[in-house]
Amino acid sequence: MKKLKNWDNKTWLSSKSYISQFNKFLKTKINFNKNSKILDIGCGRANIISALQKKYKFKNRPIGIDVIANKEVKKNIIFKRVDALKYLKKHEKYDLILIKQTIHFFSKTNLNHLLNLAKIRLNPKGKLLIFSLKTKNNKIPCFKKMRKNLEKSLKRDETLFKIIKKNLKKISYTNFNFKVNISKQKYVRMIRERYISCLLNMSNKEINLGISEIKSKYKNQIKFTDTLKCISCRK
Ligand SMILES: C[S@@+](CC[C@H](N)C(=O)[O-])C[C@H]1O[C@@H](n2cnc3c(N)ncnc32)[C@H](O)[C@@H]1O
Repeated sequence: MKKLKNWDNKTWLSSKSYISQFNKFLKTKINFNKNSKILDIGCGRANIISALQKKYKFKNRPIGIDVIANKEVKKNIIFKRVDALKYLKKHEKYDLILIKQTIHFFSKTNLNHLLNLAKIRLNPKGKLLIFSLKTKNNKIPCFKKMRKNLEKSLKRDETLFKIIKKNLKKISYTNFNFKVNISKQKYVRMIRERYISCLLNMSNKEINLGISEIKSKYKNQIKFTDTLKCISCRK
């Protein structure tokens, strides 16, 4: 798969409101304190753990790892450009391991490796939180070809959820909902910058056709709910 670079590049996923609502949701799952140790796998620009660090001033700065080092990656965290599987083979233990919208980059076998290693890297009371797009009736605005690709990827995600369920015990499910209200112009820019994996392998021609479709299909302001399934697991 080509590399995803613009996922959180000035999109609703990097907005103050999204990060603050997301971190409020995390607080319902984790009792953060100054000693909490956090690892974010596939952290992108590290907006989430950076905001957590600002709020809780952890003694150990959260660690964010990603295979891509974005220029704008936040400075108040420790960023490492490394593959998750490689990183998890060594290093310390964490109270929270966060894997947000990243599992679809892994093969089924590697996902099992990732989960096995993540379990080893959790402190006794630590939690692993996995977030992924909801697979049924997903509301992300799409053009036809994009919807087709997205549905295919969501179908594969369902298989990945089964692997997770089999691998992890003491598992619970909840949803994180965020109400998106974005101008059509901004959303078109996000599509042009291929903000989501289902756009990565499309040709420029397909993207341009898709943009025309979005322009005629949606009003100037696009509103929808972005829903993530949250899988929570204790050691
Ligand atoms: C959709 S983005 C999500 C970014 C961030 N977690 C968020 O929710 O805003 C997925 C990220 O996973 C990273 N990624 C993919 N495979 C990875 C791997 N094997 N190890 C570490 N990071 C990986 C990608 O480079 C990308 O930045």
